[in-house]
Amino acid sequence: MNVHLELKNVSKAILRKVNNTRVKIQILSNLDLQVQKGELVTVMGASGSGKTTLLRLINRLSEIDSGIILLNGKDIRDYDPMELRRKVGMVFQVPVVFKGSVRDNLAFGMRLWGDDMDLEALALEAAIPGNLLDADAGQLSVGEKQRVCIARALANRPEVLLLDEPTSSLDAVSAEKVETLLLRLGRERNLTMLWVTHEREQALRISGRILTLKDGRLEEYHA
Ligand SMILES: Nc1ncnc2c1ncn2[C@@H]1O[C@H](COP(=O)(O)OP(=O)(O)OP(=O)(O)O)[C@@H](O)[C@H]1O
Ligand SMILES: [Mg+2]
Repeated sequence: MNVHLELKNVSKAILRKVNNTRVKIQILSNLDLQVQKGELVTVMGASGSGKTTLLRLINRLSEIDSGIILLNGKDIRDYDPMELRRKVGMVFQVPVVFKGSVRDNLAFGMRLWGDDMDLEALALEAAIPGNLLDADAGQLSVGEKQRVCIARALANRPEVLLLDEPTSSLDAVSAEKVETLLLRLGRERNLTMLWVTHEREQALRISGRILTLKDGRLEEYHA
């Protein structure tokens, strides 16, 4: 067993404003999770159950209230935040590209690594045709934008990918492309992946281990 990512006793509450008073809402309650190196775990759960919140805690876009999150056995708070975000990439439901060309977008992540990464090869790996490299990223289709976001995450040489409904804003054809792409990348790069989806069919297709977030904890999903 090679535990790569581990959440122990993690709790997280949010404060919601209701009629001008702040109400504390417990989103995650003493949640535990162990993910092996190279494993793909799918997370389902009702809207509002805390799936996005859970992912955001893992690369410290948000902070846990209590418990601990370990990456390679080390508390994620002991990593330099930039290093953590490179190791733990995130792909969002709605892709957001930076200003400029596709090439500019990919180069953004690669700058961190100097010149030793081949931008064309990276585009190819993320199924971005070479003739799109100099296109304005803002003008791409949503599916193409999502592939740019995936390539940008890959440029950081991540160990973990957090995928927050990465295909749900795409049309059926693009969704299938992106799903296939992510599965291939996960295999080829031995990525540890947490994949949030609300589509039962997708969960059954992509993953051997499906969890459901319910009442603040992860339960095994039974089809
Ligand atoms: N910054 C915030 N301020 C207030 N409430 C928040 C904040 N972030 C999340 N919430 C609330 O926390 C709960 C969990 O939200 P979260 O986005 O994690 O759910 P989700 O499972 O990802 O839902 P969905 O399937 O709709 O994406 C929701 O009730 C949401 O309204
Ligand atoms: Mg969400």
